[in-house]
Amino acid sequence: MFSENLIQKLQNSKHVVVFTGAGVSAESGVPTFRDVENGLWENFDVMKIGTEQGYLQDPSFGWGWYEWARHQVFLKQPNPAHYAIAQLAEKLPKVTVVTQNVDDLHERDGSLDVLHIHGALNDVCCLYCDYKSTLPQSRIAIEVEQPISSPPDICPLCSSIMRPHVVWFGENLPSDIWQKAKEASEQCDLMLIIGTSGLIYPAASLADRAIYKKIESVQINPDATDIDTLVTHNFRGKAGEILPLLFEAAFGEMK
Ligand code: OAD
Repeated sequence: MFSENLIQKLQNSKHVVVFTGAGVSAESGVPTFRDVENGLWENFDVMKIGTEQGYLQDPSFGWGWYEWARHQVFLKQPNPAHYAIAQLAEKLPKVTVVTQNVDDLHERDGSLDVLHIHGALNDVCCLYCDYKSTLPQSRIAIEVEQPISSPPDICPLCSSIMRPHVVWFGENLPSDIWQKAKEASEQCDLMLIIGTSGLIYPAASLADRAIYKKIESVQINPDATDIDTLVTHNFRGKAGEILPLLFEAAFGEMK
């Protein structure tokens, strides 16, 4: 299934970038964005939960929706793809995980210093000043069965309302994290592109950058994408099935 060239490349790489999208969490039961049946954008109004304009029109709806979403992710568990990625970091000199996902499933399976280019579901920030914080697990654990309205937290510094610290449509990516992600993507020896449709820019440009620099690349996705013929190795299938097999072929059985 895997060529000898790929196995050797993986074994000898000094720096691997693992670039993930919603598909890496799909086998954990977290819905992707664009799945035709269960996708988030099929079931919820992107204006209301994916833009600041929508949030400002009804902050209690938006805040309540994110409280529900956070709790749903809290109930999920990382899957073998997250685990395999965390294990890879123990085998190689440097692994940089860059994710478009706002969930914390990479971290919950042991990945460190994950670059969240679209922010993090558990982080919140003030709409007006620079105050930011991470919600405690004790709060995220409180059951929220439905996405129902809930008044936003108030900023302890300036008393305005808080918002989820995720990147909404039309907003810039966090500049320091984005810079690190771009540098890693252009300087690595190998890029693994896992579970992303590659439709949302600038995030998707990370894969384009690696391909443009002629960096060897691997894509794992059950569906076709625009870069199927551009990557060096394209695997049509689920991340939680293929990644463990690939890493075991290169490094032997995982712990
Ligand atoms: P999408 O929902 O656009 O794409 C998910 C991809 O995962 C699809 O290509 C699926 O085929 C693939 N997939 C599904 N199950 C999989 C599995 N088990 N293993 C591997 N792949 C699987 O999600 P993203 O590409 O992450 O942005 O979307 C990019 C951005 O669009 C998101 O970060 C979000 C969204 O709007 C913001 O919110 C700013």
